[in-house]
Amino acid sequence: MKIVLQHLTKRFPNRNKKIKEDVIAVNDFDFEIPDGKLIGLLGPSGCGKSTALNLICGLEKPTSGRIFFGDVDVTDLSPEHRGVGLVFQNYALYPHLTVRENIRFPLENLRGDKKLSKEVMEEKVLEAAKLVQIQELLDRKPNEMSGGQQQRVAIARALVKRPQVLLLDEPLSNLDARLRLQTREELKRIQLETGITTVFVTHDQEEAMSISDMIVVMKDGVLQQKGKPQDIYDEPENLFVASFLGTPQINVFKGKISGEKVFIGDAAVMDAKGIADKDVFVAVRPEGFVIDDNGSLECDFIAREVMGRDTSFIASHPSFVGENIRAIIPSEEVFDGKNRKVRFRLKPHKVRVFDGITNERIRL
Ligand SMILES: Nc1ncnc2c1ncn2[C@@H]1O[C@H](COP(=O)(O)OP(=O)(O)OP(=O)(O)O)[C@@H](O)[C@H]1O
Ligand SMILES: [Mg+2]
Repeated sequence: MKIVLQHLTKRFPNRNKKIKEDVIAVNDFDFEIPDGKLIGLLGPSGCGKSTALNLICGLEKPTSGRIFFGDVDVTDLSPEHRGVGLVFQNYALYPHLTVRENIRFPLENLRGDKKLSKEVMEEKVLEAAKLVQIQELLDRKPNEMSGGQQQRVAIARALVKRPQVLLLDEPLSNLDARLRLQTREELKRIQLETGITTVFVTHDQEEAMSISDMIVVMKDGVLQQKGKPQDIYDEPENLFVASFLGTPQINVFKGKISGEKVFIGDAAVMDAKGIADKDVFVAVRPEGFVIDDNGSLECDFIAREVMGRDTSFIASHPSFVGENIRAIIPSEEVFDGKNRKVRFRLKPHKVRVFDGITNERIRL
């Protein structure tokens, strides 16, 4: 089921009484979520991710704009008539019910000609439990299970009615690192198996990158960029997107374009054919640095951290924005650290240049 958002906007009155303006939690969302794909909705805390999800499922009414599931306008439909499955951050299982009863719960509310027999319900519960591989746990209570198992029960409960759309709001945030990794792979498998259009909210860029077919990056209610994870990583359209995706973070320097060259301080690091002189930000992915005695960018060497496969070079430069440069260098690279200086050459395809005022990408 494809989801179409048409100029979708949600305003809230500002809770801070001194500020008159509304909070625009979702600002003019106008795009399509393709059928059968897993979409990662990504952005920092407070940017409007949950609001966007709540609009899609019908828990919130938009201030303006419309939502379509396929060709059907669902904007005025209540959540239970939209055919969505929801999983929240705190999985909100009923503690006094067993796993079986928790998963069955949405089915028991069906009325009229949708009412199901006990046998059919049992069948559907079993099917959903198998999908998330908890069929052995059906008689347990939530407090007799690990966080990851509880999360699976919540997913099974969201899937039991076979929704057209599955919406997940930070579903992994209560899990420890290893379980997160495992559960996100599970989610991807379940999504592939069922083919249900899924929107997955997270503020964790790595999580979004690793399982999404498409990522939507937002900030302050405004869509910044959408596309395939790798494309967004490689071709960010503004400095915010460049900085939000990737660990370690992209390294940002203040610089300038002058005489068709990109400068960081006095060092010319790249060509900028046909671009007028201006102040810019030069952003370099950690893997974009090459140690080279003839490299133009001289930095103060601080430390080298061994990480096994590669090493992390920590350095500083007067034009660097933020704390320290972090460069990822293959571990076989020799470096003596003489004079506490290190010279780098930059890989052009790992360097992105942004306008110093608008922060928009300048394509070189
Ligand atoms: N019911 C409400 N009334 C007033 N303001 C609200 C309401 N719900 C959300 N907001 C505001 O709208 C903005 C977006 O909130 P939202 O919960 O969608 O962000 P989020 O991206 O999900 O954040 P987080 O990652 O912290 O969950 C915030 O500024 C928030 O304070
Ligand atoms: Mg939220």
